[in-house]
Amino acid sequence: MTLPRTPSFRLDGKKALVTGASRGIGLGGAVALAEQGAHVVMAARSPQEIEAAAKRLRDMDFSAEGISLDVGDYQAMIAAVEKYGPFDVLFNNAGTNQPIPYVEVTPDNFDMITDLSLKAAFFVAQEVAKGMIAQGRGGSIIHTSSQMGHVGGIDRAVYCGAKWGIEGVTRASAIELAKHKIRVNTIAPTFIRTPMTASTFDDPERVKWLEEKIKLGRVGEIEDIMGAVAFLASDASALITGTSIIIDGGWTAD
Ligand SMILES: NC(=O)c1ccc[n+]([C@@H]2O[C@H](COP(=O)([O-])OP(=O)(O)OC[C@H]3O[C@@H](n4cnc5c(N)ncnc54)[C@H](OP(=O)(O)O)[C@@H]3O)[C@@H](O)[C@H]2O)c1
Repeated sequence: MTLPRTPSFRLDGKKALVTGASRGIGLGGAVALAEQGAHVVMAARSPQEIEAAAKRLRDMDFSAEGISLDVGDYQAMIAAVEKYGPFDVLFNNAGTNQPIPYVEVTPDNFDMITDLSLKAAFFVAQEVAKGMIAQGRGGSIIHTSSQMGHVGGIDRAVYCGAKWGIEGVTRASAIELAKHKIRVNTIAPTFIRTPMTASTFDDPERVKWLEEKIKLGRVGEIEDIMGAVAFLASDASALITGTSIIIDGGWTAD
């Protein structure tokens, strides 16, 4: 009797697009995909920063190129996906937050968060999915959600709305794209030490509170998301779609 074998975690011959790839979680995800053999197209707005990030990957003998792109610029995004695609993997990660009490949220605050974290994310995935359908060899779309896409958080009414929104988009699009063998999932991290969260981590009282909320007793590092990104991109997760991998050290367990 032949033993079952673990499907491959490798991504050789695959092309991946990573948005928000110049630093933080996106840079970690780009490295994770490149380490498994994918060619990674890394996108962010700052041309210097994204080219420097891509060069750091190439210096490690990974296959990567950097492109300057504002994912909220719909026409520019479509042109970039057309030029650099079609893709087998999308790590749809660009997003932002501006913590603010619920009763103080203005339409500008609302637009600033949702335009990037929900609207742009929606249309980047839609455009990449069109290319995957045309290419006809399936694919994996991974959105960066948050634990705040599964619970509520203080000063995070808009951010939670955007991240719960992306969880809903994930489930609905997974149903429609399944017939094309395109899988759609999210990663949902807790507080990860990145440039976006630097001000939170500069406050010892906040860090103490975070370490109490996170059952494993420590905040997240970029390395904590990398295995999940590689897993969801690969055949090792071939029957996983329309769901979320929560990387929260147990925050949402109770
Ligand atoms: N850090 C956390 O604790 C945490 C936890 C859960 C979820 N998340 C989510 O993880 C994602 C990344 O967070 P992070 O902490 O790594 O953020 P970050 O350190 O602020 O990095 C954001 C990245 O996105 C790029 N970016 C921003 N606006 C963009 C735009 N309009 N078009 C293209 N690229 C853009 C930035 O480069 P440019 O400025 O040059 O464009 C940068 O590469 C976000 O979706 C966030 O909501 C973060």
